[in-house]
Amino acid sequence: NNLDTLYRQVIMDHYKNPRNRGSVEGDHLTVDMNNPTCGDRIELQLQVNDGVVEDAKFDGEGCSISMSSASMMTQAIQGKSVDEVLKMSRIFSNMMLGNEVEDDTLDLGDIESLQGVSKFPARIKCATLAWKAMEKGVDEEEA
Ligand code: FES
Ligand code: FES
Repeated sequence: NNLDTLYRQVIMDHYKNPRNRGSVEGDHLTVDMNNPTCGDRIELQLQVNDGVVEDAKFDGEGCSISMSSASMMTQAIQGKSVDEVLKMSRIFSNMMLGNEVEDDTLDLGDIESLQGVSKFPARIKCATLAWKAMEKGVDEEEA
């Protein structure tokens, strides 16, 4: 239907014109993570100051779902608190379980376009790769 078509266009736009591909300038932490099912990988760089994600950039090679998800995620988490980004990550996991997003207190931006991925179990790991890397980075930062 039309919504699926629109969502597909959003995903392809992020894949072809990734936001935040590159490196963070200044202090940052780096997380490397791969998807063991295909070997694709992401390198995520985060700059976290006083509990706020001030910058997020990524690099890596992967399918359109994984790379567009990384692009959308880095866009959505910039300027958000650690608490907020962890909440976003829970919302995203819930979306990947096929549940409706009920929380509209956080601006998920283009992320909603990935909700159709929940129908394709093999692709869910692609969509969550960047989020897992982010959670790991934030964990390390807090430790
Ligand atoms: Fe190819 Fe996930 S293994 S898209
Ligand atoms: Fe590897 Fe999608 S096929 S991350």
